[in-house]
Amino acid sequence: MNSWSLSDIEVVSRAIVSAPSVHDTQPWDLRLDGTYVEITERRGFTDSPRADRVISCGAGVANVELALRALGRQIEMDLLPDPRRPELVATLRAVGTTSPSSTDLRLFSAMARRRSHREAFADIPVPAATIADIVSAAETTGVRARLLAADEAPALADVLLYSADRVRHDPRHQRDLFPWTSHWLPQGGHESVDTIHTVVTRGVPDSARLAAAIEGETVLVFASDTQESIDLVRTGIAVERAWLTAVDARLGASILSYPLRVDDTAQRLARRLNLPGHPQLILRIGY
Ligand SMILES: Cc1cc2nc3c(=O)[nH]c(=O)nc-3n(C[C@H](O)[C@H](O)[C@H](O)COP(=O)(O)O)c2cc1C
Repeated sequence: MNSWSLSDIEVVSRAIVSAPSVHDTQPWDLRLDGTYVEITERRGFTDSPRADRVISCGAGVANVELALRALGRQIEMDLLPDPRRPELVATLRAVGTTSPSSTDLRLFSAMARRRSHREAFADIPVPAATIADIVSAAETTGVRARLLAADEAPALADVLLYSADRVRHDPRHQRDLFPWTSHWLPQGGHESVDTIHTVVTRGVPDSARLAAAIEGETVLVFASDTQESIDLVRTGIAVERAWLTAVDARLGASILSYPLRVDDTAQRLARRLNLPGHPQLILRIGY
């Protein structure tokens, strides 16, 4: 028996395509069958780091789960691993009906409004209660979402500049680089790589300038307990829930993962912030 109507299929498909994904690659496949939905990782078509692809699938899972709740389905969810099907990320089974909570409905409606804001934010502080809501939305086994304290901004700035420096000096990294410093400093300090693989640097900022820009924003560092796929999927679920909670509070956000994939940058950040686990993503939030 097929329990999915055409409109259910439409809602769930729209939900997954509106999830954030590395380079917008949408590295998932979605299958609705009988009373369950399966999300599998699409492999072998992208050179993005595997961690980013699996985290992206996790963000897709978060959106599918919210869509099913918004449709009034009671859900049981199994995350990988299934040794017989290594590409399987999650199975969500509809086991009954239930009224969606107001949070589910608000986050579901935030999906269509979420987009990456790769620019500086307005100089308006995010209220502590809103930050607390965002952090608690990210609470997931296997993942830590840590708010960067103001006096930790110099540590993050140093580590980001270390990463940029490694990229500049190692030709293996000189491709497809996000202009990451422009998230904080759109007027300058922009670094990118052109199509013939030459690094174009327009005044990479000094550490103090970047630290001051970071300090003026709300920044969360997402760290997974392990590098196992299951904790990467959970990281994706956590970051998407946090991001949608921010959008629901009329905030914008953007993700940075690229600098953390360069050499030992992530370990350095963990050490500087005294963070247990493996830093995977930086989420900037602001008005
Ligand atoms: C795992 C992951 C890593 C990402 N890394 C970066 C990054 O390093 N820099 C960046 O600007 N955007 C990054 N993004 C954001 C994606 O580029 C973005 O979600 C995608 O292009 C779709 O655009 P949208 O967020 O506006 O819908 C990342 C997203 C995910 C899920």
